[in-house]
Amino acid sequence: MSATASDSIMETGTFVNCFLLVISLVIIPVNGGYDKERDALLKGTFPQDFIWSSATAAYQIEGAWNVSDKGPSVWDTLAHQGRVYNQDTGDVACDSYHKYPEDVALMKQMGLKYYRFSISWPRIFPTGEQQDGVNQDGVDYYNRLIDELIVNDIQPMVTLFHWDLPQVLQDRYGGFLNNHTNTTVIHDLFGDYARFLYQNYGDRVKYWITFNEPWITAWLGYGIGNFAPQHNEPAEGQYKAAHNIILSHAKAYHIYDDEFRAAQGGQVGITLNCDWGTPKTPADADAALRYVQFFLGWFAHPIYKNGDYPEVMKTTMARKAQEEGRTTSRLPEFTPEQKLSISGTGDFFGLNHYTTVEVTDACCTPIENPNYDTDKDVGTGHAPDWPRAASSWLYVVPWGIRNLLGFIKEEYGDPEIYVTENGRSDHDQDPAIMMDMERICYYMMYTNEVMKASNMDNVKVKAYTAWSLLDNFEWLSGYSERFGLHYVDFNDPTRTRYPKASSVFFKQLVRNNGYPEGSEFTKYVENMWYFCHNTTEAEVNGYTGGASQISSLFSLFLAIPMMIAYSLIA
Ligand code: BGC
Repeated sequence: MSATASDSIMETGTFVNCFLLVISLVIIPVNGGYDKERDALLKGTFPQDFIWSSATAAYQIEGAWNVSDKGPSVWDTLAHQGRVYNQDTGDVACDSYHKYPEDVALMKQMGLKYYRFSISWPRIFPTGEQQDGVNQDGVDYYNRLIDELIVNDIQPMVTLFHWDLPQVLQDRYGGFLNNHTNTTVIHDLFGDYARFLYQNYGDRVKYWITFNEPWITAWLGYGIGNFAPQHNEPAEGQYKAAHNIILSHAKAYHIYDDEFRAAQGGQVGITLNCDWGTPKTPADADAALRYVQFFLGWFAHPIYKNGDYPEVMKTTMARKAQEEGRTTSRLPEFTPEQKLSISGTGDFFGLNHYTTVEVTDACCTPIENPNYDTDKDVGTGHAPDWPRAASSWLYVVPWGIRNLLGFIKEEYGDPEIYVTENGRSDHDQDPAIMMDMERICYYMMYTNEVMKASNMDNVKVKAYTAWSLLDNFEWLSGYSERFGLHYVDFNDPTRTRYPKASSVFFKQLVRNNGYPEGSEFTKYVENMWYFCHNTTEAEVNGYTGGASQISSLFSLFLAIPMMIAYSLIA
């Protein structure tokens, strides 16, 4: 771009900045939740080697559900039973099986140097077992994807299991409910699958994530049973499944350690999800801690601490066993050898985080039909001024991620943390779907909190990953909720992708590596800050002021064009 053109954009930018400032002084506060100290914008940058990434998962984007010899997964089964909203399925999804070069081009365009995706187990081993045969076309597909990434200077981060268990393993062995003893077959089968992936892709893949959010598989898949494989046993199913998943993870970790690490030099971790639990009143502090221990600690304590479940989980479940007249706890026990083999099996701590809940103490009424939710002895809710996204569970509470990162640092010995997912959904029919200001705000506020954790609290946070690169199959919600930086037209057989405004914002964020003092990007962010926090500078800094809901109009008409102008200058 010529100097004159960029100068005039700059002038436009300055003019718009002033305009924004004036507007922000006169808008009436929408919410009173802004805390001047806690929520202030931090200027500065992330460490130089900080990893910016975006993520997807096989079933959510690949489609090609039955090409070549791919076997069905438990999600194919569930979707084909019509259990998803609008009877949607992942049969075609974003068709990334065929369109992956376009996906890589989008990442390249955004300046991303990392991509987190998952491999579909039944696309590699159709039945889940290597001895029954390998689907060579599936193996080749991931080779092509990985090569395309490397050629474009993008590092692959590969998740081995993002919920799409081969249906045959569920039918033959009960999946992750397979008898939880030393000899359980599912651990070995997961180990074989992991070994095969290390063997075939480990020359190019240096970041491995064994499981994505085992909490979801355990509780929604084997406890409540609304997610695949739809096993409903809410008193015990989740504890047995989690037990097996932790042991399977440890197996895959040791296989890498023993057979591949020396030659390949990569890292292996697991990705855990957790909503931050904040006490509703000071009296609820223990309850909030218990909530986080039952959520995150369930998996993190064994893996990152001492090979065993958190103390509070064990004592709570032991008391419940007594109350329920059981001779053993519903929470299984690890043997001493298992504890040894589980402890320390994470080279990094993968974290998926989206939201926060307010926790109240609900101890200790005996429950007739106990389940994981009642076992925690807590109640959960949300503060009235927390804004909401399209997904019913997603409340926007940026400071929650900083608290959670601090908790992980303190509780698990200061590990290296990779934020492997964070993002916000819109309704499919939202008129502002391309001008997704709310998503820009979400990324702006949450990444700034991550930077506070990194630069102010010395948390070793090494990566931030946006969920998601593309709108995709949002599990039981089908295509009705969109998390993408890129819009995908699911009515178009060619599944055309279109960059949303948030992808332009994210590109700028990556290029600036945060919010450097004095940059045009940071000035833009400064002017958007109060709007994004649903409040006004007037409220925060004590001016008194006039008007209205003008803020949302202004966001549509000015904030996005201005950001695009900045992106042209930079
Ligand atoms: C999952 C993704 C999902 C996202 C939004 C995470 O729990 O890993 O697969 O799409 O949240 O719901």
